[in-house]
Amino acid sequence: MEPATNPFNLAGRRALVTGSSRGIGRAVAFALGRAGAEVFFHGAADSPALEESLAAARAEGIAARKTVGDLRDSQAVSRIAAEAAGADILVLNASVQSYGRIEDFDDGEFERMVMTNLRSSFRLVRLLGPAMAGRGWGRIVSIGSVNQGRPAPRLAIYAATKAAQKNLMLTAAKEWAASGVTVNTVTPGVIATDRNAKVLSDPAFADPLRESIPAKRFGTAEDCAGIVLALCSDACSYVTGADVVVDGGMSL
Ligand SMILES: NC(=O)c1ccc[n+]([C@@H]2O[C@H](COP(=O)([O-])OP(=O)(O)OC[C@H]3O[C@@H](n4cnc5c(N)ncnc54)[C@H](OP(=O)(O)O)[C@@H]3O)[C@@H](O)[C@H]2O)c1
Repeated sequence: MEPATNPFNLAGRRALVTGSSRGIGRAVAFALGRAGAEVFFHGAADSPALEESLAAARAEGIAARKTVGDLRDSQAVSRIAAEAAGADILVLNASVQSYGRIEDFDDGEFERMVMTNLRSSFRLVRLLGPAMAGRGWGRIVSIGSVNQGRPAPRLAIYAATKAAQKNLMLTAAKEWAASGVTVNTVTPGVIATDRNAKVLSDPAFADPLRESIPAKRFGTAEDCAGIVLALCSDACSYVTGADVVVDGGMSL
């Protein structure tokens, strides 16, 4: 019998989690760091939230590093990839979203969401994935959205970027499957974060929405972190191209 080892141990691994100053990304970065990985925390810019996350992580003994940059800017994306060079784990978490009917969106808003959500993801995968394949071990996890398969009204561009990103993950999963690199999507439902704090504080909106979820509650950022940790570990080395929904049964 093989000696017992912890397949969730990430000691010696380096991770980059985009958008980890706050919300789901922060919880994911802590989970990876607590499992032993060196983690690059990232925000669009230096901010009190990013500094607080770094300080809290370091206080726990996590090897937390910082990288900042607006993902809309392709040069910033390249710099972030260079700073996190050698990353074994890439979590594509940051995104922007705005609401409007199709006729309300202009090309500028289309470009903002496509560049931030999709182009930056493609660029980070392109810049960091081949080296993972060369080393024979890598993990890429994209944070999707239930909107990628069943779009809510008024989220046309956001939903389209998430659908395209999921499709990109499928191609990457196939291209690197034989090189020890797994590529998966984790798809949250309604997770209480800064992003939706305002709408979820309105009982007229939040109460029927909560009631429509079989689990009868909104998710937390930590609810998303465990599955990302598992997918980034040796425990899930034979899981690739998957889409794991974290929604309390909302899409059932
Ligand atoms: N919350 C939900 O219910 C929900 C549901 C489905 C999917 N998701 C997905 O889950 C992911 C995380 O969501 P969240 O609710 O945790 O988000 P959040 O609380 O709004 O946090 C967003 C994170 O992304 C960063 N970010 C935003 N714009 C950026 C830009 N232009 N360039 C670089 N970084 C940027 C932010 O950095 P700063 O702190 O510097 O602004 C922050 O770290 C997103 O991809 C979202 O689409 C969330």
